[in-house]
Amino acid sequence: MIVRAGGVDSLNMRLDRDVDVLITSPPYLQAQEYIRSFKLELAWLGYGDRLTELARREIPYNNPPSVKVNSEAYARVREEVRRLDHERLLEIYDAYFRSLVHFLDNNHGRVGRVIAIFVGPTKIRNIRVPIDEVLREHLESLGWRHEVTLVDRIVSRRLFKVDKNPATGLKDERTPTEHLLIMSKN
Ligand SMILES: C[S@@+](CC[C@H](N)C(=O)[O-])C[C@H]1O[C@@H](n2cnc3c(N)ncnc32)[C@H](O)[C@@H]1O
Repeated sequence: MIVRAGGVDSLNMRLDRDVDVLITSPPYLQAQEYIRSFKLELAWLGYGDRLTELARREIPYNNPPSVKVNSEAYARVREEVRRLDHERLLEIYDAYFRSLVHFLDNNHGRVGRVIAIFVGPTKIRNIRVPIDEVLREHLESLGWRHEVTLVDRIVSRRLFKVDKNPATGLKDERTPTEHLLIMSKN
């Protein structure tokens, strides 16, 4: 997905024609803050006056409608996140899945054959969030069939390994795998 400064936000996006395949790579929960990381580049490209708007629309720091996420994994992990007693983390968790589900709800009807989604099972604190499982369950509730989930181990992009994450003090364990969820139409 790309946030174009012209205002294209995947939450407002509707496919304007039928397609065979939808492939997307949404953010991996709060693993990256894209707008903050690329502030300078965006300013150089002439979008400096729109940074606030872009940041406000960025998943999962945005404010999506409270659509229903049809997934037991979502509810199970949400309960674990809720027990952390950290309001902002729970908001991020909900905003993330509501955003993705809202986009899929709005667009899956125009997809004829395959929906493919790249995601990594990122962590919130020490809770691993099975993003692809949540999306699989939700798409199944919309009538899609799970074809396969391809798993790639991320090794090449790690520059160094530390025992503890200096920011959180927790055991350092970056997203170890990247998953490609492939769903097909029943
Ligand atoms: C994992 S990256 C995928 C990047 C993509 N494969 C590419 O080459 O541009 C997730 C992307 O989703 C974008 N994003 C975040 N919130 C969005 C939104 N509301 N609408 C559209 N894209 C969004 C991020 O800025 C980031 O570029």
